[in-house]
Amino acid sequence: MCGIVGYIGDKNSVPIIIEGLKRLEYRGYDSAGVGILENSHVNVVKKVGKVSILESEMTDRPINSTVGIGHTRWATHGAPTEENAHPHFNNDKTLCLIHNGIIENYSVLKKDLLKKGYEFYSETDTEVLVHLIDSFLKKGNGLLKSVRKALVEVEGTYGIAVISSLEPDKIIAARRGSPLVIGVGNNENFIASDVTALITHTSQVVYLDDNEVVEVYKDKFKAKNIKDEDIIKEVHEVTIALDEISKGGYPHFMLKEIMEQPESITNSMRGRLIQEDGISRLGGIRNQIDRIANSKRIIISACGTSWHAGLVGEYMLEQYTGIPVEVEYASEFRYRNPVINKDDTLIFISQSGETADTLAAMKEAKKKGALILGVCNVVGSSIARESDAGVYIHAGPEIGVASTKAFTSQLIVLALITLLIARRKNLSLVDGQNIIKELESIPGKVQRILELNKEIEKIAEDFVDAKNFLYLGRGYNFPVALEGALKLKEISYIHAEGYPAAEMKHGPIALIDENMPTVFLAPHDSVYDKIVSNIEEVKARKGKIIAIASENDNTIDNLADYSIKIPETIRMLMPVLNVIPLQLLSYHIAVKKGLDVDQPRNLAKSVTVE
Ligand code: F6R
Repeated sequence: MCGIVGYIGDKNSVPIIIEGLKRLEYRGYDSAGVGILENSHVNVVKKVGKVSILESEMTDRPINSTVGIGHTRWATHGAPTEENAHPHFNNDKTLCLIHNGIIENYSVLKKDLLKKGYEFYSETDTEVLVHLIDSFLKKGNGLLKSVRKALVEVEGTYGIAVISSLEPDKIIAARRGSPLVIGVGNNENFIASDVTALITHTSQVVYLDDNEVVEVYKDKFKAKNIKDEDIIKEVHEVTIALDEISKGGYPHFMLKEIMEQPESITNSMRGRLIQEDGISRLGGIRNQIDRIANSKRIIISACGTSWHAGLVGEYMLEQYTGIPVEVEYASEFRYRNPVINKDDTLIFISQSGETADTLAAMKEAKKKGALILGVCNVVGSSIARESDAGVYIHAGPEIGVASTKAFTSQLIVLALITLLIARRKNLSLVDGQNIIKELESIPGKVQRILELNKEIEKIAEDFVDAKNFLYLGRGYNFPVALEGALKLKEISYIHAEGYPAAEMKHGPIALIDENMPTVFLAPHDSVYDKIVSNIEEVKARKGKIIAIASENDNTIDNLADYSIKIPETIRMLMPVLNVIPLQLLSYHIAVKKGLDVDQPRNLAKSVTVE
């Protein structure tokens, strides 16, 4: 949530900041602003709406500033207005600040600052911080010390960048709970909340850790912790190619990301399948495998789509390893004093690796001595760095706000983890080899499903005006029903619910009439006959039925109004295939409604606030 970019060097900072903000726009798109040092003054320009609006405003002004910071906002405190947009000024306009996160004690701090005579122009929590820093500057402290002292008083989370006309040779950046990286260039340095904003300029990055404050000059940077102790930071090399973060000819990132799943799934498995031993190779958890295999319990925790992947993981792990598994919403888990034992393994799943609830749940679990594994996409992200061990999903950057390719890669990695543990326990060589054979066939099968795109687009035409949708599945396909419903609601704003199909008669069946479309996940598996009975029940009440069924299923056509036929696989991997038509269906419905699928209203990609 909220994107931060900063530049200090010899070039004009504004185009660099605007380009970075555009790459970060998926983190928030309510308003955007820049603060630059120009002729010994701090100038701020802010606009409501997308970065392109700010960009047109800036192109009309001749600017030559070599130090600046920029922000794209996802509103927390205060509506998306120009006043509430970042950067925020101190009262004498010598200082401006951008912030990602939430200052939880802002009202107490504000009261105090009001008493001291500070004037506020926004409803944000952030403005408190800029005045607080100013109050320390007024006591004769330098900029770094003032920022540090202000942060000591702050409760909550922040990733911030500050510039001041009083010390124009630096940007101060600090982090607690909200991601921030420094990009190290040649006689120029960058700041960003995400490496994707930097990769056109440098591949050398420094990840800030919590409670670190950094002075960034054009030719060096100095890091300290909040207690004023010096810290040596390691420079990392990032390897993201530019075409991975551009649309590559597709109208939307979401469609590109759906379409690249044969490749992203292949990447998730690359070098990790050992056919002759019927086992997976996962270097990141190799040293912990005995402890994992001997755990008394596995707890998976995540949010949103990643939580749905966790539910599928529960089915996989319980079926093949016999270890009891629980799946928890991270937001609930962190606050309810969960019972965690030393012989438990906890798996935290997160595409971004920055989701505030997941990160906090992980920190809570860590205190209780259990083994902590991270399953993340973003390399170097907070969850990846703070876990004891983990597996990257290697799906490549996911920019569309609705998660698609990350979900299928999460499922693949969970299958690989399951296989590794199961072979340590009692899965036979032959069974392990069969799973590997099926895994290897998945990218080709996904490709065949993607070739149904036009057919699915046609079906979508008939549902543009639907007000509600029901998604039903059993067993492994119940989490897929949840994921299908989430995909539809977040990008098309159509109300949708996912249910285990058998639960329908315990309530949701009351909703069925000729206006209620129901999507059934009905592959040929052990519960096929039961799903067919549920389809009959909906049909008897005149509900419209879309069935996702197996290629060779000829009976389904007599029951469903629309059927989408897809290849078969083993039960454990079915969700990887079954979710693809649901992603395409949601995408086409949203596009036909004229909605912005990559940046749906009220959402942001990386949820770094509670
Ligand atoms: C849905 C979606 C969200 C995320 C959730 C967790 O399409 O993208 O529900 O899955 O916010 O995000 P991560 O996986 O980054 O922790």
